[in-house]
Amino acid sequence: MIVTTKELFKHAYKKYAVGAYNINNAEQIMGLFKGNMDSKAPFIIQLSKGARSYTDKRLLEAMVRAADEIFPDAIFAVHLDHGDEPTCMDCINSGFYSSIMIDASHESFEKNIEITKRVTDAAHAKGMSVEAELGQLGGVEEDISVAEEHAKLTDPKQAVEFIQKSGCDSLACAIGTSHGAFKFQGKQGLHFEVIEEITKLAPGFPLVMHGSSSVPQDEVKRINAAGGKMKSAVGVDEKDIAKAGKMGVTKINIDTDGRLVWCRVHREEFMKCPENFDLRPPGKVFMAEYAKYIVHKNQILGSAGQLDDVRAYIKANKK
Ligand code: G3H
Ligand code: 13P
Ligand code: ZN
Repeated sequence: MIVTTKELFKHAYKKYAVGAYNINNAEQIMGLFKGNMDSKAPFIIQLSKGARSYTDKRLLEAMVRAADEIFPDAIFAVHLDHGDEPTCMDCINSGFYSSIMIDASHESFEKNIEITKRVTDAAHAKGMSVEAELGQLGGVEEDISVAEEHAKLTDPKQAVEFIQKSGCDSLACAIGTSHGAFKFQGKQGLHFEVIEEITKLAPGFPLVMHGSSSVPQDEVKRINAAGGKMKSAVGVDEKDIAKAGKMGVTKINIDTDGRLVWCRVHREEFMKCPENFDLRPPGKVFMAEYAKYIVHKNQILGSAGQLDDVRAYIKANKK
């Protein structure tokens, strides 16, 4: 069953976080649904602009629709990840997505509000929820000053003004994470004080953490042992992810970890069987291993085991 992120966040707020997983192909979709069913978790399936054009958006969307039929007990939101305005409008008009992200965080504060509001008005008219972004995600380099570092983080007071003026339903905040497999150098960490301040100023408003892959070191070791070159890859500590979930971060974005599972499985499978040229054996191992990863991650997020409760909550709150 496809639901909006708004419904999922209301149930989760300050109790647990919902995993938002990026997908590109059939194997990822099957592994993702299986992992969420095995752990009885609600989830968010994220389609980025790149994923929508990797094969064809119609093919990707059709596979998600098919998965909804194959797994009738699943409860999930279909979400556009990092959309620009034209892509958001395309998803709004498609009638398939239940949630979109407008990412105008690279624009000025005023322009970000203006674009976000336009997209939000159009999305709300179709009953969809909207995530926006304020602040600058990205590697907070070790050698920059504290003042420079804080300039990149989301300003809590600005966040409140942004939420009010743009009408968005959730906000992606920059709290020190970055996308990809090389997130930190040295002793950098997450800025929980930013989350704390925003939730104080905007109680009940759901926050989103991008760049939340934990880059499991066992995966990195195995990738390197099988010919990979990912020496200094490092991600967000799982304890910090769980902590953020209890503080009001209701959506945790994960893409890189799924790519690492894919990379490890395929490198190892072809090392083990160099004579193999068939895509199915590694594909089958990948689906099972990705499902296992999802189960583990949902346990960390606290979304594991919430499915029946979410179903009852959504049913009770239907108009
Ligand atoms: O935040 C970006 C996601 O990891 C999506 O990556 O644009 O390569 O699909 P992508
Ligand atoms: P990671 O690169 O840490 O997986 O973050 C993904 C993300 O934020 C997608 O929007
Ligand atoms: Zn992101």
